[in-house]
Amino acid sequence: MCGIVGYVGKSKDSKYLIDKLKKLEYRGYDSAGVCNLKNGRCETFKSIGRISNLETKIEKLSFNCAILHTRWATNGKVCLKNCHPHLSHNRSWAVVHNGIIENYLDLKSKLKILPESDTDTSVVAQGLEENSVSNIFEFIDYFKNLEGGYAIVALNAKIEQTLFLAKKKNPLYVGADNDNNFLVASDPICFNNFSKNYYSLEDNEFAIIKDKTITFFDNQKNEIKKQLLNLDEEFEKAEKQDYSTFMLKEIFEEEVVLKKQIEIYKTQNLLGKFDKNFLNKFNKIILIGCGTAYHACLIGAKYFQKLLNFNASAEIASEFCYCIPNFVDKNTLVVLVSQSGETADTLKAFEIAKKQGAYCIAFTNVSYSTLSKKADMCLPICAGVEIAVASTKAYICQISALYMFVSNLSCKNNKNSYFDEIYNISDKILHFDKINIENIAKKIYKTLKCFFIGKDLDLITAKEAALKINETTYIVSNSYPSGELKHGYLSLIEEKTPIFVFATQGDLKFKTLNSAEEAHSRGSERILITNEKNIESENVIYIDEKNELLAPILAIAPIQYLACEISRLKSIDPDKPRHLAKSVTVE
Ligand code: M6R
Repeated sequence: MCGIVGYVGKSKDSKYLIDKLKKLEYRGYDSAGVCNLKNGRCETFKSIGRISNLETKIEKLSFNCAILHTRWATNGKVCLKNCHPHLSHNRSWAVVHNGIIENYLDLKSKLKILPESDTDTSVVAQGLEENSVSNIFEFIDYFKNLEGGYAIVALNAKIEQTLFLAKKKNPLYVGADNDNNFLVASDPICFNNFSKNYYSLEDNEFAIIKDKTITFFDNQKNEIKKQLLNLDEEFEKAEKQDYSTFMLKEIFEEEVVLKKQIEIYKTQNLLGKFDKNFLNKFNKIILIGCGTAYHACLIGAKYFQKLLNFNASAEIASEFCYCIPNFVDKNTLVVLVSQSGETADTLKAFEIAKKQGAYCIAFTNVSYSTLSKKADMCLPICAGVEIAVASTKAYICQISALYMFVSNLSCKNNKNSYFDEIYNISDKILHFDKINIENIAKKIYKTLKCFFIGKDLDLITAKEAALKINETTYIVSNSYPSGELKHGYLSLIEEKTPIFVFATQGDLKFKTLNSAEEAHSRGSERILITNEKNIESENVIYIDEKNELLAPILAIAPIQYLACEISRLKSIDPDKPRHLAKSVTVE
């Protein structure tokens, strides 16, 4: 969470840097700020809310040494005094930060002058001043005091054209263009149209950009050489184009990304080494993720159970830490699923599993992410850049990657058959009747609550559907196993309460349809999502899929579209729902 940008080089207008910062708005959008170093003085501009509010304040300015920030509040509520960049009392140091300094209260108690802001970051700015830090070696020494996580970019008013960088746990990258102008950012996506290569700082690394060069150090103050990485060509596609929102654009990319993912897995033979023998050394499989990625894990666990009859379960990453000791060991295969590969809870779960000896495979959508680099093995989710906070195309790619992975292990399926099965799904994914969904949206968008029910894989789709509606429409949405309605939840049904019924799984679907009938008799507005033809009901979303294992992909797509449509009717931006951020880099 939080996005940071630093720039040092030839003068750039404000629009240039604001556009870079906007690329990071997915990381947080409570407030934004900039500090411009000009004639030995730190000039700051801050605003609450979206970056566009800051834009209007600085439109006439130009910058040749600046740090910028877009915030997702952790320590300290959303207000101007807590907005980054944070300056020290004498305005000698300015700091932008992504992460949490866990011992900031202790550090604060040792300061001579207390910062006005409630944030942990302001303690760092003041600490740099009170410790008279004036060069990179003193800067590195100061960081020995800090516990927690940080990507920090700092500047000193008396040291012209210079940026100081520090990284631990939170991402930080640096690119240089042909004129040796330097851009620092939380995500290399900012380097699109700036440089073709970039550096990635690793944990406990530092850097100084000065005199048109960058020098890297480890935390022992030894200079280190770093390799330049190539920029992902996908970044060029990360524009909204003619779509009203990224969420809508990303839903409409689902067919293409599913096909591309098959192509990549096929041509690069990514599953070659994962045959049945691979599983021999394991007696347990645990899939771990958060939010939507956790739902993909639930589906993955079902694949292990159904295709391999293997002992597999899914855990929410933030809960995995509380499993009984030695819940995993060297005979456990841990599968971590994460779109960003930067989710702090998932990374923490990874560290715990690794410590206990488990073999860890990660599925991530970001090849340069922390999880991709740290896991024993990483398999790609090939969804392309996903910007909207609400995950859509990444989810269906996660399911399909897990399906290919497990099918390959099962050896029951020859490779081409599972590739073909997914290909077939990708052809159908956008075939749902849009007008029908738009009409359902119009019918229900004013409701305060709605419910999602299903059994087995349909229950997992119900969970993901409820999450999508919760996060993008603010309608309180819950999911239940359909059999549980009569054990308590039916009491929540009122006249016209929408109840979404997922019925795609073999004979189970008829049991679910019966439960739905019970709710319908009590006045609910029933919406069926089913592959069963010839159903007489007012609201039916038909999905043309007989392969039950892959039905979750086709069943979720219309609900993603519905969530998008309801958010439009309620004037909510589904790309940036309130209080959320795309990349959740704090525990
Ligand atoms: O980047 P990750 O896949 O690790 O993110 C996990 C969750 O934070 C994420 O799926 C979240 O639930 C989405 N906003 C859901 O749409």
